[in-house]
Amino acid sequence: MKDVLDKVVEGSRAVAIICNQWGDTGKGKFSNLFAKYWADVVVRGTGGNNAGHTVVINGKKRIFHLLPTGIIYDKDGKINILGNGMVLDLKVLCTELAELDKERISYDKLMISEDANVIMPYHISRDLDKDASSKKGGIGSTGKGIGPCYTDKIARRGIFVRDLLKENILKTKLEKVKSFYPKVEIDSEKIISDLKPFIEKIKPFVKDTITEINDFYSEGKKILIEGAQGLLLSIEYGTYPYVTSSDPSLNGTATGTGLCARNIYPLGIVKFPFMTRVGGGPFPSELGGEESENYCAEGLEHDIKFELDKYKIPFEVIKGNVKYNHSHPNIISLMNSKYDFEKGIGIRLAAEEYGATTGRPRRTGWTDLPALKFATYFNGMNIILTKVDAISGAKKFSLVESYGEEKFSRDCDSLRFRKPIFKEFEGFEKKISDIKAYDNLPNGLKDSIDFLEKTIGAKVKIVSVGPDQNETIVR
Ligand code: IMP
Repeated sequence: MKDVLDKVVEGSRAVAIICNQWGDTGKGKFSNLFAKYWADVVVRGTGGNNAGHTVVINGKKRIFHLLPTGIIYDKDGKINILGNGMVLDLKVLCTELAELDKERISYDKLMISEDANVIMPYHISRDLDKDASSKKGGIGSTGKGIGPCYTDKIARRGIFVRDLLKENILKTKLEKVKSFYPKVEIDSEKIISDLKPFIEKIKPFVKDTITEINDFYSEGKKILIEGAQGLLLSIEYGTYPYVTSSDPSLNGTATGTGLCARNIYPLGIVKFPFMTRVGGGPFPSELGGEESENYCAEGLEHDIKFELDKYKIPFEVIKGNVKYNHSHPNIISLMNSKYDFEKGIGIRLAAEEYGATTGRPRRTGWTDLPALKFATYFNGMNIILTKVDAISGAKKFSLVESYGEEKFSRDCDSLRFRKPIFKEFEGFEKKISDIKAYDNLPNGLKDSIDFLEKTIGAKVKIVSVGPDQNETIVR
């Protein structure tokens, strides 16, 4: 497998797995694959616990919010780094470490950047207060304090991981921050005493990771950069203001790891032939349009159990995980409904598209090629398609070919009114997860992949036909 992956990335020593859409495209599976077979070092550079990477290991589903997925290979000598561009909630980080302790998974070689910023309780209060719901026209943030923490970083009052190690500096900084949060009580003594056990826990791992990672690169170690969120959620290039507060593009991710973007080979993940979005903001190809946007904005009121109940699909809850038959006849008939809104629900159920971090239903629509073309400006032309197996049973599927004369726009007021022109393809009835050779994929699917490549000039290097690592077709 190592040789196969070396060939895919044309012998590069640093590879970034980044998302070309609105996040949740299945980066976890590929981060895990590269971490296991290819990388010596795995690093994350942007965001915080707003991300949730789902990985299936030995048939068991795990979700990592902060730790790189490569942490499970620490025992094999792999180094994992939380990079300088991240924002860290220490409680969440220590909970993830405690889970590893419980399962006796080692993390001796973990490194936490002294330059990462720390999410404080007042950041979370501010996030929840300002933006609790996309129903009220808000961004629909994950409420984890990400935006306010980055705001403080840019406003030069951020608390760095290195500040945690010097109590007097931490106290002075917290005192200074008070005047910027008039509505929240900031008791610096209490914050420090609450943080103390977490600080003790992470202290041995705090490092100057910018120097470390550049040394690793010079020594010839292979570095995997694990992206978070997605290009269309970038503060720099995304559909502002319905974006996150970091830049998950190749460039932004490189910045957040301390590496030079020029040395990194990007692999852009694209969910196909459908895509999703959580939270507010325009989504031109959304199935069911505004009806779906409003319905999904109700969040947990329309969660997975609600939808399974409503459409009479039997399920069980085993250890907190909802289990059901993803190809249940009622799901297939929803996917083939003549009403787009129902089709969208069918795809959501077939592909189990509910937020890994928040449990919210994800909005669904067909993969948008003008938006993808835009993403390739920053993330390059090498593409991995994911979740293509999910729509088996749909008689037809579509891609957005263009918006007529117009292009993708970051300006949400314009993007909302783009009129997608769809290109329809033949669907496939049978399961495709056990297909190993590209040529054996259904014709309609291969036609749509050709169409993608020709329309935007990209190269599809890998097609993922199931959640497990062996359900992967390398071209
Ligand atoms: P924040 O990152 O919590 O500030 O949320 C801002 C917007 O980005 C909201 O619409 C979130 O739903 C979205 N978002 C943040 N992280 C992710 C992610 O990992 N996947 C998908 N959407 C995300």
